[in-house]
Amino acid sequence: MIFDLTETQLMIQSMARKFAEEEIAPSSIERDEKGEFPYEIVKKMGELGFMGMIVPEEHGGAGLDVMSYVLALTEISKVDASCGVIMSVNNSLVCQGLTLWGNEEQKERFLKPLASGKMLGAFALSEPEAGSDATNQHTVAVRSGDDYILNGTKNWITNGSTADVVIVIAATDKSKGAHGISALLVEKNAPGFNVAKKEKKLGIRSSDTVSLSFTDCRVPAANRIGEEGFGFKFAMKILDGGRIGIAAQAIGIAKASLSASLSYAKQRKAFGHPIADFQAIQFKIADMATSIDAAEMLIFKAAALKEEGKPYGRYSAMAKLLASKVAVNAALEAIQIHGGYGYVQEYLVERYLRDAKITEIYEGTSEIQRIVISRDLLKD
Ligand code: CAA
Repeated sequence: MIFDLTETQLMIQSMARKFAEEEIAPSSIERDEKGEFPYEIVKKMGELGFMGMIVPEEHGGAGLDVMSYVLALTEISKVDASCGVIMSVNNSLVCQGLTLWGNEEQKERFLKPLASGKMLGAFALSEPEAGSDATNQHTVAVRSGDDYILNGTKNWITNGSTADVVIVIAATDKSKGAHGISALLVEKNAPGFNVAKKEKKLGIRSSDTVSLSFTDCRVPAANRIGEEGFGFKFAMKILDGGRIGIAAQAIGIAKASLSASLSYAKQRKAFGHPIADFQAIQFKIADMATSIDAAEMLIFKAAALKEEGKPYGRYSAMAKLLASKVAVNAALEAIQIHGGYGYVQEYLVERYLRDAKITEIYEGTSEIQRIVISRDLLKD
């Protein structure tokens, strides 16, 4: 496993960096303050191929490898973690699911527009009583002729009010537990599909997080992904891949914290010296950089295993566990280095802390990642 980046990967990384700095950065602070969704930016991300990066070209995607996706997502998240999560959900949770398990008709109707940025997707697994305990699904889909009748509530849905189509995980046979859960593609205009509460969040404030409710919502059985009862395994497999994306988002935030700290330490003077001259600051910077590189290596390992078609769930969980912790710590240290200026909005680092925290929570909390990792280690 060699992590020398190819010419194409370097080109994608630099294209994402340029796009983030030129097109995302100028409106980022204002959108965060107002909690505004970046419609125009998401449209441009679609045009540039960032919304379906690892989807084959024949299905509307960019046909790139997992490493290119990780590199691009890191660059976007370095500038704006809200754009990072919007991109991550559409790529990892929605397009990947359809690429691997959608049928030809679903790929034509949904994957093509989703991967090319003409549609936006969301993934609805969590519920008021089914967060970490994801098998405890109260949303129910009852078969009625050629349709399912869907009833229930979903919580914390990224892209929930902006998405054109949502992959909804629901119980189709409660008596079968995890084996009685199915995945359905639900279109925005389906009667009985309502966008409920919009969340007011600590961070990633310009991403769209809502509750969704379904009241006798009729969904064609043709919109089921895979067999009836495959929905829980589908969700778990999708999340294995999604965690690589969230790890990349986290490391983007951590890199932003380091970069802000380096600039500030060289420019800020105390006791007649730039504070970068003091070991107290140097050691913080050294620790930040070391932990960022370590986490990034783990992300690259998970990405390489996925690319090679090898089991990677343990490594994506490890990557997310470490990268999210590194992101929170790096943001805290960046605030400490900035002193009082770090605690106010002027220098952005307070936003990095607010944005970093969610990476320890969504797509499986750090505690869930430890369960996934230890179960895999102990299974034989
Ligand atoms: N791949 C394939 N199959 C898997 C799997 C995986 N990664 N993980 C579990 N399964 C299978 C199991 O093998 C089992 O199947 P069998 O009965 O045939 O053996 C079945 O699924 C049930 O699994 P468990 O018995 O392990 O289920 P559990 O109740 O103990 O839960 C869990 C396991 C790991 C805790 C799981 O519930 C979990 O991951 N919870 C966290 C959910 C989560 O990450 N939510 C995030 C929401 S999405 C989000 O945040 C998106 C966003 O907006 C950003």
